[in-house]
Amino acid sequence: MLKTRTIRLVLLVSGFFALGDCNALAQPSIQYSADRKVWLLQAGEQSYAFGVNERGELQSLFWGGRLQGIADVAEAKSLPERASFDLSTTTTPQEYPGWGAGLYTEPALKVTFSNGNRDLVLHYVSHKIEGDELQVLVRDISEPIFVELHYRVYPDQGIIARWSVIENRSDQPVVLESAAAASWSLPPGNGYEAHWLTGHWAEEWQQQAAPVEPGSIVMESRRGSTSHQANPWFEIDRQQETTEASGPAWFGELGWSGSWRITVETSSFQQTRITGGYNPFDFGYKLDAGAHLQTPIFYAGYTGRGRGEVSRLLHRFQQEEILPGGDKARLRPVLYNSWEATEFNVDEAGQTALAEKAAALGAERFVIDDGWFGQRKTDNAGLGDWYVNPQKFPHGLKPVIDRVHALGMDFGIWVEPEMVNPDSDLYRRHPDWAMNFPGRPRTEGRNQLLLNLARKDVAEYVFSFLDKLVTENDISFLKWDYNRNWADPGWDAVPVDEQKKIYVQYVANLYDILARLRAKHPGLEIESCSGGGGRVDLGILRYTDEVWPSDNTDALDRLVLQDGFTRAYSPGIMMAWVTDVPNFLDRRTVPLKFRFLVAMNGSLGIGGNLNHWTAQEMQEATEMVTYYKSIRPVVQRGELYRLLSPEEGSASASEYVARDGSKAVVFAFLHSQRFGAPFPVLRLQGLQPNAHYRIHTMDDKLQQPQSELSGDALMHQGLVFQLTGDYDSSSVTLERLP
Ligand code: DGJ
Repeated sequence: MLKTRTIRLVLLVSGFFALGDCNALAQPSIQYSADRKVWLLQAGEQSYAFGVNERGELQSLFWGGRLQGIADVAEAKSLPERASFDLSTTTTPQEYPGWGAGLYTEPALKVTFSNGNRDLVLHYVSHKIEGDELQVLVRDISEPIFVELHYRVYPDQGIIARWSVIENRSDQPVVLESAAAASWSLPPGNGYEAHWLTGHWAEEWQQQAAPVEPGSIVMESRRGSTSHQANPWFEIDRQQETTEASGPAWFGELGWSGSWRITVETSSFQQTRITGGYNPFDFGYKLDAGAHLQTPIFYAGYTGRGRGEVSRLLHRFQQEEILPGGDKARLRPVLYNSWEATEFNVDEAGQTALAEKAAALGAERFVIDDGWFGQRKTDNAGLGDWYVNPQKFPHGLKPVIDRVHALGMDFGIWVEPEMVNPDSDLYRRHPDWAMNFPGRPRTEGRNQLLLNLARKDVAEYVFSFLDKLVTENDISFLKWDYNRNWADPGWDAVPVDEQKKIYVQYVANLYDILARLRAKHPGLEIESCSGGGGRVDLGILRYTDEVWPSDNTDALDRLVLQDGFTRAYSPGIMMAWVTDVPNFLDRRTVPLKFRFLVAMNGSLGIGGNLNHWTAQEMQEATEMVTYYKSIRPVVQRGELYRLLSPEEGSASASEYVARDGSKAVVFAFLHSQRFGAPFPVLRLQGLQPNAHYRIHTMDDKLQQPQSELSGDALMHQGLVFQLTGDYDSSSVTLERLP
């Protein structure tokens, strides 16, 4: 085991170590010095150190590039108070600060005890190291409130995961006002820049950047789910130093699909810490005597190789450690979905006709979207009634599914299990199942209410209807949608002081349903959709195979959305459909080739009304699907290099390199040519300098006369495309020669 890891580490950090530096490579991923009471965690390029200071607190010591070993870590010594206004508890970067003893910075844990005490001071008790896992136990100086701080090191992927388990070993309940997974401290200093993702429906994944100044940058969702408005991802780098291709960058991602918060807080003393976990807003989790609460997991990493490497590390980590099936997971099939073509007007004849056409294009999965169940004709009715609509599918789903299979595709179906329309049999039977505050108006969004999945009976209902649906029909794929946020998070079936547990229990039950379904139906794949990209995070991705990043399918907008998405998540799980023009949202008309090539930067799907496609369009689409299948492993599992950002001008380009270096694919897009300007030369990245590559073109846009070039030539001289006019695009593949 150690041997394999050592070899891979050499590859990962070869730019930073001499290959003969066996000492560093042979070290365990977690080291402890009993003399100095310090720990050193090593993951890829990243070192992370903390220790016990003279007061008994855990103190963060270092987070950044790789140290030689534990000898490089000085012992922890608290920092002095600054005047009488910033006490030592505040100036000292605590590893997991409780709110108490004069802490003015963001606490990781805040507790109200039943006697009214709210002072919590956590001191070291013990620790254990098992392989790549470290567990450190701290407790309050007088009350038996214990916190297990968990650290899991992923040496091969360069990621450290942290989470906490808060235990109440007293005989009285306490209320947790806030509970973070972890607090990460950056090396002291200024000049940092923070990056994060914001948005709204149809405009998710917008990249934000701001200098890190004294004060806080708060990224959060108070909505009960991950949200379109912010995504639990951050990156912090050095303003003057870090670029796409070089320089230091610290980054992290929360694994939680409920309300969450990440606070980047900088003190007046140039100390920045990033605290993340449950959103403290409206939190108040009652922890009974003897009970414990586990926080979400906060994953983080460091690289010295720029912003592009941040995303590559995350993509690889997600592929190998988070997504179901890991490295062995099936590549995403090309799917067809008729939502934009037919909306709610689905029926047996119409869907079968579309399936025939989709199969002819080379689609591998056919998905019936919203509208197939209950009395669903519009979004006014039907959610909650998961029987097949007898008018639309008089013979049930079987004939369509059989035809889809006969055409060589697998079959998927849309569900929105957590919702109910007031106009539904389910709501008429169980109005109490909807989330609400008793006696208050029930806030509707898209004419629907949320089922309170925190309730056992509701969770059981949801599991059993999905289980029945998948058992009775040959269904390989569920598109799991979620089309609104919480507005009335009441839970009146439990005592008042338990009701806020809804923020934790709802998500725990959601994960449990997904896990049970997958266990019972091992071949089943699931897409996380929330009116587009409202539920994408490392929590849901443990149970889902892909995500729908946005309802916005306009190819030009998609270039920007996809660029933001892939900052945080793997292109391999990013579903991207080619839909009709003019696009429903922007009324923009973009050529079919451009639409296809944009969608090929993720997991390709087709969502247009094929009944309206001409024979020529069908032919072009068939060729595009064939092309995609040939590059799919490189795009879905390779390393992404951003050559030209779509945020910065009319031209954009991306490159994907297979992990074994044997292939690469380049995409080039021109939105609109101005003043006859030539398309910028694309200097490739991530190739082997001495290797030679055969260049395969799909059209006559490449101006290079040579059909073979060295890695050096491709990376230094670059590729010259002649893209002209509006919405021009091209792609080439490179094959390394033996
Ligand atoms: C929102 C999704 O994002 C769409 O793709 C579609 O499935 C609709 N819901 C259906 O109501």
